[in-house]
Amino acid sequence: MFYIYSMILVTGSTGLVGTHLLLELAKKHDKIRATHRASSNLRAVYDTFALYVDDPGTYYDKIEWTEADVADFETLIQALDGVDYVYHTAAFVSFDPRERQNMIRINVGGTANLVNACLEKKVKKLCYVSSTAALGNAPSGEQITEDMIWSYSKNRSSYSVSKYQSEMEIWRGMAEGLQAVIVNPSIIIGPGDWKRSSSYLFSAIWKGMKFYTEGVTGYVDIRDVVYAMITLMEGDFTSERFTLSAENLSYRQVFEMIAFALDKRPPGIHATPLLISLGWRLSWLISKLTGKKRSITRDTVKSSKRKALFSNEKIRQAIGIDFIPVEQSVRDTATHFLNHALARP
Ligand SMILES: NC(=O)c1ccc[n+]([C@@H]2O[C@H](COP(=O)([O-])OP(=O)(O)OC[C@H]3O[C@@H](n4cnc5c(N)ncnc54)[C@H](OP(=O)(O)O)[C@@H]3O)[C@@H](O)[C@H]2O)c1
Repeated sequence: MFYIYSMILVTGSTGLVGTHLLLELAKKHDKIRATHRASSNLRAVYDTFALYVDDPGTYYDKIEWTEADVADFETLIQALDGVDYVYHTAAFVSFDPRERQNMIRINVGGTANLVNACLEKKVKKLCYVSSTAALGNAPSGEQITEDMIWSYSKNRSSYSVSKYQSEMEIWRGMAEGLQAVIVNPSIIIGPGDWKRSSSYLFSAIWKGMKFYTEGVTGYVDIRDVVYAMITLMEGDFTSERFTLSAENLSYRQVFEMIAFALDKRPPGIHATPLLISLGWRLSWLISKLTGKKRSITRDTVKSSKRKALFSNEKIRQAIGIDFIPVEQSVRDTATHFLNHALARP
């Protein structure tokens, strides 16, 4: 049972998922606490609210901010004081293999810390944002469901390993008595920090990205992700995971949709396996010589070649969600991107 007067905590509040979740929670609740780090850009939260409502301050002012790093157990214990419900969206999203240790520390270690803190503070329920990267593979041509068990293989990216191990921490917490529900979104489309997470796709195509791969994956609108999380949290759903994915599309199709919506030329060069393997090696060499971050990594390549079809049957049956079509998500997000890009000096 979800009580309107309960205190709710959101981690990762400045991210794509966190900002959208905070706004929807602030429309319904008065007692919301959000974690941020000393370096977090809180202005981005206000700016995201302003994309959707005329009076962002009304909602922003409802939020009680508290500084916490998921890697620091003590800060979590303090943040959880008096909290009944927790949404855990904080994570480090990267396809740079050099960030593997950081992803394990923040994603896996941070989730373990939060689970332990929730158990200690007797939190009533947790909603965790996992990923389709934590789902297993299906036999060729079949759709991947929540029942498919993830397994280690050399084709798994470091991000995928970190998300799988993080989700295991949630299942461990449930075995120890924590009530929790897990969502596994595919690639989330929505306006966020255009330099990070999935919102970066819009910047990349805006800057003239030239290559596409044959890979296929799922896509989902940020508004549907947030709606599903709140509905699952408020309902009697526990010890379950739900895939959130509107449609399965090729990278080429989605890149073309984004390019069209931004009035840019779509990436036109098919990145063949040979071209990609040359590409990530060249990128590795440039990064070694210049010290700059790699633009293409072996992990980006692994993910972009994969043909994965995700089933959304379970969540549709559970909450009757009617997913926003990807084409509409892309159009709406592109409008926000263009307003942002055109507003820049
Ligand atoms: N975006 C997608 O396509 C997608 C798809 C499937 C699943 N997911 C999952 O959804 C969740 C949210 O992703 P997102 O796209 O919103 O990511 P994002 O925009 O990169 O935001 C990540 C958030 O986590 C916070 N964070 C990072 N390290 C932290 C730490 N050590 N302690 C506390 N907070 C920390 C960041 O805070 P700062 O502002 O301080 O950096 C930020 O608020 C993640 O678990 C991700 O794996 C995302």
